[in-house]
Amino acid sequence: MTCIHTPVLLENSLQYLITRPDGVYVDCTLGTGGHFTEIGKRLSPTAFLLGMDADPTAVEYCRTFLSISQKYLLEISNFSNIKSLCFRAGFPKVTGIMFDLGMSSFALDNPQRGFSFNSDGPLDMRFSPEIPVSASDFINSASVETMTKTFWNYGEERSAKRIARAIEFARTQKPIEMTAELATIVVKSAHSSFPNKTLSRIFQAIRIQINQELEVLESALQQAIEILEPNGRLVVISYHSLEDRIVKKFMKRESTDCICPPDFPICQCHHRASAEILTRKPVEPSEKEIKSNSRARSARLRALRKKDANEA
Ligand SMILES: C[S@@+](CC[C@H](N)C(=O)[O-])C[C@H]1O[C@@H](n2cnc3c(N)ncnc32)[C@H](O)[C@@H]1O
Repeated sequence: MTCIHTPVLLENSLQYLITRPDGVYVDCTLGTGGHFTEIGKRLSPTAFLLGMDADPTAVEYCRTFLSISQKYLLEISNFSNIKSLCFRAGFPKVTGIMFDLGMSSFALDNPQRGFSFNSDGPLDMRFSPEIPVSASDFINSASVETMTKTFWNYGEERSAKRIARAIEFARTQKPIEMTAELATIVVKSAHSSFPNKTLSRIFQAIRIQINQELEVLESALQQAIEILEPNGRLVVISYHSLEDRIVKKFMKRESTDCICPPDFPICQCHHRASAEILTRKPVEPSEKEIKSNSRARSARLRALRKKDANEA
């Protein structure tokens, strides 16, 4: 069976990620295994590859349809557990770590998952059934203030308050349980000339909120740098500015010596750069890639190299 999600920025990812074919590699966002499979093809028989995904259906898909070396490990797990997973697998230090954030076409195109406003389905949006609050739970219980903050902070939506108020009113009539119901309320209340853009922002905001995507990413990046071996690589593909900002800030901090506020006359933090940024500017997909895979259009790839302890 062929892969049903086209891996984004594949060649660039592999170039930055793989430094030695016999190393230990981790794909934190397995999806339908596009990057994972290609990483595996470039490794030697003595290498190890761990793939994880919070979504059990993604891992199940890979176990069923991909021919994966018996030596490799696939885990259903949030990537916020990366450090303990690698430790348990017997690899406290690893050679390369890959994140391809967001969701796969596999999940996005399934109306039952509730990620898309283009087809009607239950308002779920959880990456994993272990996430306690679904999109519907959130929309039907959050205060106007909380919804406004979510739509503004995670969707940068100007009509955040108006939309939050409309939701609060609508749910007094009946609980909002389907994506189409929410989409109708959003479009009617926002009066936007670009309703699809508004819907994208609101759906993105709710998804980030219920999956705690930004907090989890910050924690996972920190763990990733800790477990990288000297000269090991971290490669992250993000799809919206909130994620990219976190990745950029993290990489800048890890590659900077003193991180004291600029008005401190002498350094008090004693922070030392542990890494070197390999992508001064994020790598973006070519026109050709965007033409053949429109979901690549907002992708930004950033990579860093862990320094050797003796490097200045
Ligand atoms: C863009 S897809 C990855 C696609 C994959 N690289 C491929 O080529 O098939 C992102 C995947 O990350 C998973 N994911 C998102 N957040 C996660 C998290 N915090 N922990 C683990 N997996 C996560 C999603 O379930 C989704 O399957």
